[in-house]
Amino acid sequence: MNFPPLLETHLPFPRRQGKVRDVYDLGDRLFIVSTDRISAFDWVMPNGIPDKGAVLTRLSLYWFEQLGVENHLISDAVPVEAQPYDPDGVLTGRCMVVRKAQVIPFECVVRGYLEGSGWKDYQATGQVCGIDLLPNLKQCDVLPTPLFTPATKAETGHDENVSFEVMCQSIGIPLANELKEKTLGVYNRGVELAKQRGIIIADTKLEWGWFDNRVILIDEVLTPDSSRFWPAESWTPGKSQASFDKQFVREYLMGTTWDKNSPPPNLPEAIVEQTRARYIDAYERITGKSF
Ligand SMILES: Nc1ncnc2c1ncn2[C@@H]1O[C@H](COP(=O)(O)OP(=O)(O)OP(=O)(O)O)[C@@H](O)[C@H]1O
Ligand SMILES: [Mg+2]
Repeated sequence: MNFPPLLETHLPFPRRQGKVRDVYDLGDRLFIVSTDRISAFDWVMPNGIPDKGAVLTRLSLYWFEQLGVENHLISDAVPVEAQPYDPDGVLTGRCMVVRKAQVIPFECVVRGYLEGSGWKDYQATGQVCGIDLLPNLKQCDVLPTPLFTPATKAETGHDENVSFEVMCQSIGIPLANELKEKTLGVYNRGVELAKQRGIIIADTKLEWGWFDNRVILIDEVLTPDSSRFWPAESWTPGKSQASFDKQFVREYLMGTTWDKNSPPPNLPEAIVEQTRARYIDAYERITGKSF
């Protein structure tokens, strides 16, 4: 590894810090910098994964190009306003200038396979987010049809799964239907493309926003931070899968004494390196390009 992870940026524009990204307000546009921060169990880890922000940015750019859905991307270059503050070019390759949208406050989740909170829900209720499913499904089984299972975007803490009815009550039936159709459309297209590369996209989370009276795709798209990617060749229902996402970090943390209610411990170098390799592997497999 040549460079230390980029954990934080300081540009003189109004900043909103997400768990992973630093978002600067440039007036009518936003400047989104993907740092190398990594979060797990709603905590940001004290150390980062070198190049993670660049990998995720490039993957979102790849999908924006492939998906053919109207999205927020304006440019992947460092904007003129920010250039004086980036003499070493550390932001290059890990940033996007995007249209500032009015965020629709739902995480549009779609699940093609039974894992994560969907699997937990199914074990407890036989349903996923209020949708009845056949009995005897196994962990990581493929679902008969991909399910749209929205969640609220919580300002702090966990996002909460909600039924489609609750979403309809909140934003109206026409918009809820539009988001559902658009989200399933993106997922299905992504699944089709990833399949050709030997990757299963088990589930993903999209965000949408209003721009110019239209609904456009915002945020990151089909990255290992927003999706579960599994290697198709080793997919075996009935257990958790080898994955390209931060599941690796989660599993490491579960093996430590950390209680998930206090600041997390540093990730050891070996975990950092293996996580980095997984992110890069995901990028290279999906895009067919070398990082
Ligand atoms: N085009 C856009 N217009 C407005 N907001 C956007 C746009 N694209 C992304 N965002 C917002 O920028 C933030 C990206 O930061 P990040 O993903 O690191 O945050 P986060 O930890 O997920 O926080 P949050 O829970 O608020 O999403 C998100 O809040 C996302 O909703
Ligand atoms: Mg986010």
